[in-house]
Amino acid sequence: MTKEDSSISTRRLKEEDVPSVRSLCRAVQSASAREEFLIHLRRFLTSFHVIVTPVFFFCFYHFYLKTAVLPSLKSCIQTTIICEGVRFLFFWWKIKGVFKEGEDLKEPLRYFDHPKRAFLVAVVDGHIAGTVGVKETEDPNVAKLYRMFVHPSYRRRGIALRLISAIHNESRKLKYRSMSLRTHTTNQKALRCYEKAGYTLVEQKNYASVYPHSFDTVIYVKDLREDGPTI
Ligand SMILES: CC(C)(COP(=O)(O)OP(=O)(O)OC[C@H]1O[C@@H](n2cnc3c(N)ncnc32)[C@H](O)[C@@H]1OP(=O)(O)O)[C@@H](O)C(=O)NCCC(=O)NCCS
Repeated sequence: MTKEDSSISTRRLKEEDVPSVRSLCRAVQSASAREEFLIHLRRFLTSFHVIVTPVFFFCFYHFYLKTAVLPSLKSCIQTTIICEGVRFLFFWWKIKGVFKEGEDLKEPLRYFDHPKRAFLVAVVDGHIAGTVGVKETEDPNVAKLYRMFVHPSYRRRGIALRLISAIHNESRKLKYRSMSLRTHTTNQKALRCYEKAGYTLVEQKNYASVYPHSFDTVIYVKDLREDGPTI
């Protein structure tokens, strides 16, 4: 499962790692939020609403209110921009919370000093290149994998897979039998990465929608008894 790269190591979070971990998590989350914002903006701009809405408003201004052609065109463009802009901002407002910084990062050492939690970092040439955390869920046998972040300069080197393998080992030590995680359908990099790490999709559900646009979350699971430690 892991790519052999001896310059990458993983270990539990130490006090001196905290500032770098915070800035890495913050940077990756804001970059993910920007990426997601652009994906959805592109979808809004290329959806059939962008054609149907101005046609509808043009007919309203020109045929119903009897406005001349040019002013009708101008008004229909303005109204469409306002309506679709408000719809897009409302949609974004519904999903933007997914990318906010979590409580656990305020005092990570304290938060993860817990018998059912762990936080690992990947170190490359003395730099923190990636993070992953695990914490309890409602089911005592199931751990939640989260904070799977790799700094953009260190991607596609197998760091995520190394971290996943290492957090599986930690989770076994914490007496978990399986892992679960949540991501979203637009995060293709993460979906491929989790599938490569042996995770199986078990649920997809709508998290937020503003017709016809939607943001769907997916839940992936992995049975920790399927394979033994790989590192
Ligand atoms: C998703 C993420 C953690 C992957 O980290 P990474 O260290 O680059 O991943 P790896 O090098 O270990 O790659 C593992 C596999 O994931 C898939 N993958 C990773 N990046 C990919 C990309 N840009 N495009 C397609 N597949 C990709 C590939 O299958 C890859 O295996 P391969 O390189 O043998 O083809 C990283 O891109 C990231 O931090 N993204 C932003 C934060 C995020 O979305 N985290 C997940 C939250 S749920």
